[in-house]
Amino acid sequence: MCSVSRERAEGGRVIVEVDDKVAKVRNIKVDSSWDSREKTVSFSFDYCYWSVDPEDPKYASQEMVFQDLGTSVLSGAFRGYNICLFAYGQTGSGKTYTMMGTPASIGLTPRICEVVFLFLHLHLFKNFLEIYNERVRDLLKQSDRKKPYTLRVREHPETGPYVQGLTQHLVTDYKQVVKLLEEGIAKRITAATHIHNASSRSHAIFTIHYTQAILENNLPSEIASKINLVDLAGSERADPSYCKDRITEGANINKSLVTLGIVISTLAQNSQMFSSCQSISSIPSEGESGGVDGPPSGGSGGRRPAYIPYRDSILTWLLKDSLGGNSKTIMIATISPASSSYNETMSTLRYAANAKNIINKPRVNEDANVKLIRELREEIDRLKAMLMSFELVCSNISLLELLLVM
Ligand SMILES: Nc1ncnc2c1ncn2[C@@H]1O[C@H](COP(=O)(O)OP(=O)(O)OP(=O)(O)O)[C@@H](O)[C@H]1O
Ligand SMILES: [Mg+2]
Repeated sequence: MCSVSRERAEGGRVIVEVDDKVAKVRNIKVDSSWDSREKTVSFSFDYCYWSVDPEDPKYASQEMVFQDLGTSVLSGAFRGYNICLFAYGQTGSGKTYTMMGTPASIGLTPRICEVVFLFLHLHLFKNFLEIYNERVRDLLKQSDRKKPYTLRVREHPETGPYVQGLTQHLVTDYKQVVKLLEEGIAKRITAATHIHNASSRSHAIFTIHYTQAILENNLPSEIASKINLVDLAGSERADPSYCKDRITEGANINKSLVTLGIVISTLAQNSQMFSSCQSISSIPSEGESGGVDGPPSGGSGGRRPAYIPYRDSILTWLLKDSLGGNSKTIMIATISPASSSYNETMSTLRYAANAKNIINKPRVNEDANVKLIRELREEIDRLKAMLMSFELVCSNISLLELLLVM
């Protein structure tokens, strides 16, 4: 997703072009025919948006982005999958604008919440946290500003990492969600940097937990899943003229983003290794492979998947499941089209291209008892079919014996 604001004011040259699902970046330093470097590098994605000038016929509005991405989040969620949508990109490139929006131009998070209520009329639990300087803070809990308390991250053996003591808010209509969202956004730490005067200095994770009652094979059942909507802090190089706090923040933001980058590229590497193993050996059955996090089964030829350092940052630890496990995950990469952002743009697009190679293992989070009954019924059907074919073979043998005797 390509947006502009500050760059227009600076009068920088536009070096990015969006052509359907391809983003092309021009390196203006390569201008001679003897230079062996590529002048234009193309990256293809599932969707590419151009939102530089609202007058441009190609301009992608918040509504268009919602139609593509928001609806795919919702359709996955309604089917019972865990979903994660996160925005990554250079500071000031439009992550908060895309995820949250402005009162005049509503972003993905409130739009997704609105539809969840419109169609499901559910009672939902929500929580909203930020990770600031590698510490988790509850954005929906009143705290003494002088002594902001931090929460601990723990790991449940089955459900994975979670934040201990994070407040869960039961909401029954869209208005309540908007109120909580506004409350959390107001509490979130922002500061003016040399690039962006309302820069998010923390990573924010807004989570919707919901359960749907369904009837499966005439059995009442429940599907419980969650939607994680993540607005990351922007990456930026530390400016020595900043005060100590800003430099510490920058270092911690970068720590999380660097770890996220390592996690993404290791997962991508493991996924590629896993898919090449699959093509030469038998395809493992559901649940056998353990996802990209686990060892690829079925004759990996001694190659072991690389260790994934989820716990090296709070962000990657909390998003562990979303990044390489039981979740359908969408990454939005936001970039600036200006020549002055060439290096950041290339790094963001490479990050996103790498993330595209990750193969997750999402599954419907159905009720364990109903799942067991369904599996037992399938087993009975399979055994019945075996018995029938066995009886058929036996009757054919007796017929053959009869013929031989005659
Ligand atoms: N597509 C867009 N159309 C119009 N305005 C935009 C668009 N994208 C971003 N902006 C505006 O540009 C400014 C910076 O955007 P935003 O706050 O979303 O950046 P960010 O990526 O979240 O930065 P940071 O990482 O520093 O938090 C904001 O004023 C925002 O409203
Ligand atoms: Mg932001």
